[in-house]
Parts: sequence; structure tokens; C-alpha cells
Amino acid sequence: MKKVLVVFGTRPEAIKMAPVVHALKANNKFKTRVCITGQHREMLDQVLQFFQIVPDYDLNLMTPKQSLNLLASRILAEIDVVFDDFKPDLVLVHGDTTTSSVVALAAFHRQIKIGHVEAGLRTYNKQSPFPEEINRQITGRLADIHFTPTPTTYNNLVLNEHVKASSVFTTGNTVIDALLWGVANINENREAIQSLKSELNFNKKIILVTGHRRESFGDKFVSFCSALLKIAERSDVQIIYPVHLNPNVKEPVYKLLSKHPNILLIAPLDYEVFIWLMNMSYFIITDSGGVQEEAPSLGKPVLVTRDITEREEAVTLGAVNLVGTSFDKIVKASNLLLDDNSVYNSMRIESNPYGDGKAALKINRIIEKLLQENE
Ligand code: UD1
Ligand code: UDP
Repeated sequence: MKKVLVVFGTRPEAIKMAPVVHALKANNKFKTRVCITGQHREMLDQVLQFFQIVPDYDLNLMTPKQSLNLLASRILAEIDVVFDDFKPDLVLVHGDTTTSSVVALAAFHRQIKIGHVEAGLRTYNKQSPFPEEINRQITGRLADIHFTPTPTTYNNLVLNEHVKASSVFTTGNTVIDALLWGVANINENREAIQSLKSELNFNKKIILVTGHRRESFGDKFVSFCSALLKIAERSDVQIIYPVHLNPNVKEPVYKLLSKHPNILLIAPLDYEVFIWLMNMSYFIITDSGGVQEEAPSLGKPVLVTRDITEREEAVTLGAVNLVGTSFDKIVKASNLLLDDNSVYNSMRIESNPYGDGKAALKINRIIEKLLQENE
């Protein structure tokens, strides 16, 4: 029987791979196992618990303030044990993290076929997002099968990079599968949700904020936080910011924002509580890839604090406004959303360009067919 090893390491990979893991594990035509590198720890475990995934292998590699090179070298050194034990025919990686590109490289070294989920996203700017753009390009060069979420990402691979069209499949993004399942399974009685309800003032407009990108560390982060302080001066808003555990994010955010009575800083939320909070918010300010893909499905406008994006689709449709990290632009765009209903409503779109919730089933069918052809 053919064997598929699904490998991931961070929160967003886990969320987006969860529907794939469930679809593949339910398929008895081949055997599927899950390996986590543990690039993240608490933030990954939160996701595994909600989606009820018990990894078959856990490399448990996260160290505090890990450097990219230390993490990469430890993944390369440790993953062989898993390859040797399970002997996969196909290794499936996701997106753009250190885990994805390094595991793909390790699989290539062992001449194991590689499938890349969420393939083809590009800015063609090596510095932004850093290091994700190059992680994606490396993984794309190494992969044998590419699952692109949208026609644009398909074209990036097939038209711009001349990847063999027969190896590229447009499936939609599995983030929508995860979101739809998640929304249907929220337990509002959970204590975490009840306690957030008591902390939030629903007479105000709730602005949900996240921010963690490496290319924004330093001055850009200071400018972004200053904009939040300015917006928080309004008496009709309440800002809530679940702060990423990366110390390069946590330290400046708590230093700059913790004293403002209108800004609630909290620990990262587990996925169930986070999507509940997205639903309760008026709009979202974020630099997160996943959040900007999810928000249109919930009818929430998004201000993206990045200068360029590999996720153009929702920008083109008007659901996402790319504001960058400039103080003026963030404040101006926020005030406009708060004060002008026609602008607000124009950013709520009917259908989500990133997927229809069936991506994981498509990926499962394609993998089944390809593995049978190779038997
Ligand atoms: C990583 C990914 C980024 C992705 C993000 C999602 C890379 C290079 N970066 O960035 O693409 O958007 O995850 O969140 O792959 N930490 C904890 N507990 C956790 C997670 C992180 O304490 O559960 C702290 C640790 O000190 C860790 C640090 O955050 O060393 C950085 O984690 P790392 O995965 O290297 O980078 P992220 O900024 O999380
Ligand atoms: N998310 C979460 N809890 C939080 C913040 C985000 O569960 O406190 C989810 C969010 O819904 C999305 C994913 O995490 O699916 C995005 O992860 P992140 O922003 O860390 O990474 P990116 O998508 O930018 O790579």
C-alpha cells in the first residue's frame, strides 16, 4: 500500500492541513501519517486539539527565539528518522514556512515525491514576505505535485515559471474548508468565549488586530502600533489584539500598547475562539495570510498592514485594502470604515475567491489517482 506523510510545524499550516489530514486518513486506498516538526509549540497544539489530530511523529523542535538557520538545520537533521521509519511514497507540505521548504529539501535529498499544498503564491520580491517568498519558491522548485488555491496562483506556476501543467491542480484553499467546519463547530458556552464576552463592550465597534511578519519588525511595527493608539482614542471603538508569541512581536507590542484602556492585549486564541471573535468584530487589521483569506467568508473588511501581497484576489474584489504600515494610511482607512457605511458595505463581498470549502476532498481525489497511476 502506498504511503503519504503529511508534515507541518506552525499554527497556520496546521489549520490549513487539518482538513487534508482528515480527508486522507479517511481514504483506505493508501496509508497516511502525520509528522509535526513542532516549529511552533503552544500555538500548534491549540490547533491539533480543536481539529482532533494526534500526530504520529512529533519532532518537538521549537526553541525560544529560534533563528531560521538553527531551526532549519534541526529539521534537516531530525526528519530522516521519520522517513526511515515510515518510508513514505509522497511527502505533503504546506505553504511557505521553514518547515515546508526544509522538509521539501529533505524529501528531495531522499528522492521521495513531494506534494505542495497552497502552491504558487508569489510577490516575486525576495524581501517581502521574508523569508516566506523564497520558501515558497524553493518548495515550488522541489515539488512534483502542486495544489494551487486560485487561477492566479496556477498561472504563476504554469505561465510565469513554466511548471508542467499536468502537475498543477487548482483546488481552492483548504483554509476555507477549515473555516466552514470551524464555524459550524463553535461551542459558544466555552469558558474562553464567555470570559471574552465579559471583557468586550459590544456597544462599541470591535476592531480585531493581529500582526507578526518579520519584514515589519522594528520601525514599521512602531508605526503600526502608533496608528492603533491613535484609532483607540475614539470612544466608539474597542481594539482587541491576540499577540503572537514570537518575542520579537510580543515585547514591542506589550511595551507600546499595554497601557491604553481601549486596547485589549491577549494571548493567542485557539482557533475556535479566534473565529468566534472574527465574527464578532466590525473589521480586522492584520498582516496575516490566513486571516485575510478567511475574513471575506465572514463578511469582514480587512486592512492589510503590508506593502505588497501574494493574495491579490480579495484586493481586486475590494474586500481587502492594502494599507501598509504607514501611520497615516492605517488611521485614515480605519476612520473611513468606521464613519462611512457605503465604504464599509462595499468591502463585504458575496463569495470568497479563495475557495468553496471542498479543497481537501479535491486534493484527496487527486492524490488517490496519482498514487494508483504509479502503482
Ligand atoms: C512562523 C513562520 C511564518 C508564519 C508564522 C505563523 C517561518 C520562517 N515563519 O513565524 O511564515 O506566518 O509562523 O504564525 O517559518 N513561539 C512560541 N510558541 C509558539 C510559537 C512561537 O513561544 O507556539 C515563539 C518562540 O520563541 C519561537 C518564536 O516564537 O522561537 C518564533 O517562531 P518561528 O516559527 O520561528 O517564527 P514565527 O514568527 O512564528
Ligand atoms: N489564528 C488563531 N488564533 C489567533 C490568531 C490567528 O487561531 O490568535 C488563526 C487564523 O484564524 C488563521 C491563522 O491562525 O487561520 C493565521 O495564522 P498566522 O497569522 O499566525 O499566520 P499566517 O497566516 O500569516 O502565516
